[in-house]
Amino acid sequence: MNNKILRDLSYGVYVVGSLDGDRKVGCIANSAMQITSSPASIAISINRDNYTNECIKQCNKFSISILNEDSNPNIIGTFGFSSSKDIDKYKDFDYELVESIPVIKDSNGYVVCEVTNVLETETHTIFLGKVIEMNKYVDKVPMTYKYYHEVLKGSSPKKAPTYQDTIIEEIKGNRWKCMICGYIYEGDELPLDYVCPICGQPREAFEKID
Ligand SMILES: Cc1cc2nc3c(=O)[nH]c(=O)nc-3n(C[C@H](O)[C@H](O)[C@H](O)COP(=O)(O)O)c2cc1C
Repeated sequence: MNNKILRDLSYGVYVVGSLDGDRKVGCIANSAMQITSSPASIAISINRDNYTNECIKQCNKFSISILNEDSNPNIIGTFGFSSSKDIDKYKDFDYELVESIPVIKDSNGYVVCEVTNVLETETHTIFLGKVIEMNKYVDKVPMTYKYYHEVLKGSSPKKAPTYQDTIIEEIKGNRWKCMICGYIYEGDELPLDYVCPICGQPREAFEKID
C-alpha cells in the first residue's frame, strides 16, 4: 500500500473550541467537513487522548474557527502542540464567546455547533454537530492543510488523524527539526537567533536530522 495517496485528500486548518466548565479549551483540527446544508451540520474527528475530546463530550457544543493564510502561525503552534489541560491557549490571541463557546478572531470566521451524534473509532471520536450560529469576519484565502505543510512547513502531530510516520521525503540540504512542533528548517546553517515560526521556540529546541 502506498500511503502517500492519503496526502492528496484536501483539508482546511481549523481551531476547534469548546469549554471545560467555565474554562476555554481547544485544539487544531484539519478534520472538519460540512455534512448537510439543511439542517446545516458539521463533523469533526477528535483524538480520544486530546483534552478537547472529553470537554466537547461534557459541554455538548464546539466551534470551528476557519484559519486563513494570514492567520498568526503561533495559533497552530499553541493550539496544535500543547494541551488545554496545562495552559490557557487563548491567553495571547483575540477571541470572542459565541453561544458561550470561544472562537478565534484572527480567522475568516466561525461556525458554532451543538453535538447531535457521536461515533467512536479506535482512536478518534467523530462529533456531528448541528450549526447554531455562524459568521464571517474577513474574506481571505482559507488556510489549507497543503499550505500548512508546504508553505509553513508544519508537521502533523501523532494525534492528528492524518499522522503518518512512514513517508520518506526528498532531502534538499541540511535540515533541523523543531522538537516541540515538528517544523522543519532547511538551509546551510540554522541562524543563531532563529525562532520557530510555528511555535515560537528558540534555536535550542531544534535538532539536526539526517
Ligand atoms: C495541522 C494540525 C492538524 C491537526 N488535526 C487534528 C484533528 O483533526 N483531530 C485531532 O484530534 N487532533 C488534531 N491535531 C492535534 C491536536 O491539535 C493536538 O493534539 C492538540 O495538542 C490537542 O490539544 P488538547 O489536549 O488541548 O485537546 C492537529 C494538529 C495540527 C498541528
